[in-house]
Amino acid sequence: MTSNQPKKVIILGALSAVAEQVARIYAEEGAALLLAARKGEHLEGVASDLRARGAAQVKTATLDLASADAALEAPKMIEALGGGDHIVLAYGVLGDQERGEADQAEATRILQVDFMSAAQWCMAFARHLETQRSGSLVVIGSVAGDRGRASNYLYGAAKGGLAILVQGLAHRLSRVGVRAVIIKPGFIDTPMTASFKKGPLWAKPSAIAAIVRRAAERGGPIQYAPGFWRLIMLIIRTVPAFVFHRTKL
Ligand SMILES: NC(=O)c1ccc[n+]([C@@H]2O[C@H](COP(=O)([O-])OP(=O)(O)OC[C@H]3O[C@@H](n4cnc5c(N)ncnc54)[C@H](OP(=O)(O)O)[C@@H]3O)[C@@H](O)[C@H]2O)c1
Repeated sequence: MTSNQPKKVIILGALSAVAEQVARIYAEEGAALLLAARKGEHLEGVASDLRARGAAQVKTATLDLASADAALEAPKMIEALGGGDHIVLAYGVLGDQERGEADQAEATRILQVDFMSAAQWCMAFARHLETQRSGSLVVIGSVAGDRGRASNYLYGAAKGGLAILVQGLAHRLSRVGVRAVIIKPGFIDTPMTASFKKGPLWAKPSAIAAIVRRAAERGGPIQYAPGFWRLIMLIIRTVPAFVFHRTKL
């Protein structure tokens, strides 16, 4: 990565509300982008918009990112873009916790999308970044991964597992000057949470996107988004079980 060349940025789950905002930031910086998502037509629309916003180039890859062996596509993405400096992993599903308790297929879907496949992409891009000895991997997890709650512990388990994986990668890759960061957002107003009642703790996708962009260059391997969630989750993690079990979280 040299300063006079555009940054090469690969965004997995580029149609997520947060990722679209991340892509806009990079486009306005003149970066070269590869956007991966499963809705090809929508992807092309977003790609044209990003070109108009100043992206040096925008390539697209249409695929189900959570299908078995999807992560084998990672080297092809790097080749198509001519490199990969920043990798952003943004896709995910909230899933249906209640259904997941009754139906093994729903539980498997949540764990496959939010942990298994995400972990495989992280491992694939970590190999590339380690060889390159520069760049960053920024992964969107969730505060839900900090403590299991009855309302979403399948999603939380997947995001919690992913956080540990990224923390381990951050440790491994620090030896070669590569950054790996797990972003832990609280509530974000996006299609994923369209049916939720909104309140003062809610963030806009653009605010989270700014944190994601910054995290690619500086800060610790765990980044709460916004930062005040670090304190909220510290409190939530320390509430004793006999109290916690009386709540309806
Ligand atoms: N919203 C929140 O309150 C919140 C809080 C904490 C963390 N997060 C995390 O933030 C990230 C971004 O989510 P968001 O809030 O921006 O929600 P969103 O707009 O609903 O985005 C989720 C994206 O994931 C994509 N996706 C899901 N499964 C996929 C698959 N198998 N292959 C390809 N794409 C797939 C969806 O694509 P399709 O349209 O094709 O399904 C969608 O574009 C997620 O990792 C989410 O878990 C969100």
